[in-house]
Amino acid sequence: MSEFVKGLEGIVAAQTEMSYIDGEKGVLEYVGIPIGELSAKSTFEETVFLLWNKRLPTRSELDEFTSELRQRYELPAGMEQRVTSLPTNAEPMHVLRTMVSALGMHDAQPNEIELDRARRKCLNVLGHAPTIVAYFDRYRRGLPLIHPDRSLSFAENFLYMLNGEKPTATMARAFDICMILHADHGLNNSTFAARVIISTLSDVYSALTGAVGSLRGPLHGGANEGVMKMLNEIPSVADVESHVMGKLERKDKIMGFGHRVYKAKDPRASDLQGLAEQLAKDTGNEDLYAKSHAIEQIMEREVAAKGIYPNVDFYSATTYHCIGLKLDLFTPMFALSRIGGWSGHIIEQLDGNRLFRPKAEYIGAHNAPYTPIDQR
Ligand SMILES: CC(C)(COP(=O)(O)OP(=O)(O)OC[C@H]1O[C@@H](n2cnc3c(N)ncnc32)[C@H](O)[C@@H]1OP(=O)(O)O)[C@@H](O)C(=O)NCCC(=O)NCCS
Repeated sequence: MSEFVKGLEGIVAAQTEMSYIDGEKGVLEYVGIPIGELSAKSTFEETVFLLWNKRLPTRSELDEFTSELRQRYELPAGMEQRVTSLPTNAEPMHVLRTMVSALGMHDAQPNEIELDRARRKCLNVLGHAPTIVAYFDRYRRGLPLIHPDRSLSFAENFLYMLNGEKPTATMARAFDICMILHADHGLNNSTFAARVIISTLSDVYSALTGAVGSLRGPLHGGANEGVMKMLNEIPSVADVESHVMGKLERKDKIMGFGHRVYKAKDPRASDLQGLAEQLAKDTGNEDLYAKSHAIEQIMEREVAAKGIYPNVDFYSATTYHCIGLKLDLFTPMFALSRIGGWSGHIIEQLDGNRLFRPKAEYIGAHNAPYTPIDQR
């Protein structure tokens, strides 16, 4: 009988060619390419192609992939009406989860899982998801919807649909980099959820819906919102020390720190730190960056010995705030990007599928008496 491992920590449950992580050294590669190379030189569209095909595209392949994605910026008929009939106080992650599921009903053949068909469905969700989030945000704010613009990149188009004006090149590039950095990360909880669901030969929409549900948890993608809430609670840089020490004394977790895999600084956090610092300067949010940096220094002094360092969520909070995103859109941003990674894993899982079916160790009673209801 195999040993029970709580949280499946350290258990190898799948093989992948998508991302490689060395948590001790703080290394992340997509298909062998260091993440810093991709965030400096690639685009989100190219990165998704890389993850799905395990190689970089030629120029014409990238053009074709980009064009297919842009054709999916517009929602299928009827979806706009769905989004604009939701409760305006719904949380965007609940909206995204529900609408990804609804996309399955707007696909005439939702259950097709042959590899090329499954890829098309992944592309549908990747293309439609930003429109769902932007439409919902404008609808809840009582603003007219801004329809997608196919001449724009994934990053530009999303910010355009959200704000009603084309983003500056710096903002668009910053957002594009965030999308690259969040696209894939081994067998994290939501990716595992997607692979578990598709392993029943269910359908792409169900697998992606489950993954969105997993991502919203505060121990996973929801941590970036937790970071921002913490930064908002701290009045100034001078208050950081007492705030953080108080939390540590109460054994509260500091959001944006620690990782099941990384025992060194998450390389994505290093990339985002530079981005956050620059954007904070450009947008007059220096105080926010200064508070973040001060938190990192205290954490370095107090808990680095336990292998607790900033993770991807820590500086993404400042970055998203400077880009102008509202707090409850932070986790949906993570999801928009991670749909690229989840999709690649769905394709990998389907290609040589084996149903996930682990065992539970039974630790209850045996031969227990059945007591009649009136005698309990
Ligand atoms: C991500 C996370 C769940 C990983 O947890 P884990 O691998 O199970 O690590 P543990 O919870 O066992 O923590 C090990 C030790 O570090 C401490 N620790 C872990 N994360 C910490 C944090 N964010 N702040 C303060 N202390 C932390 C724990 O209290 C524990 O200390 P102890 O040994 O004295 O009890 C955890 O670090 C966390 O909750 N972080 C905050 C949420 C977050 O940012 N999530 C996003 C992940 S990308």
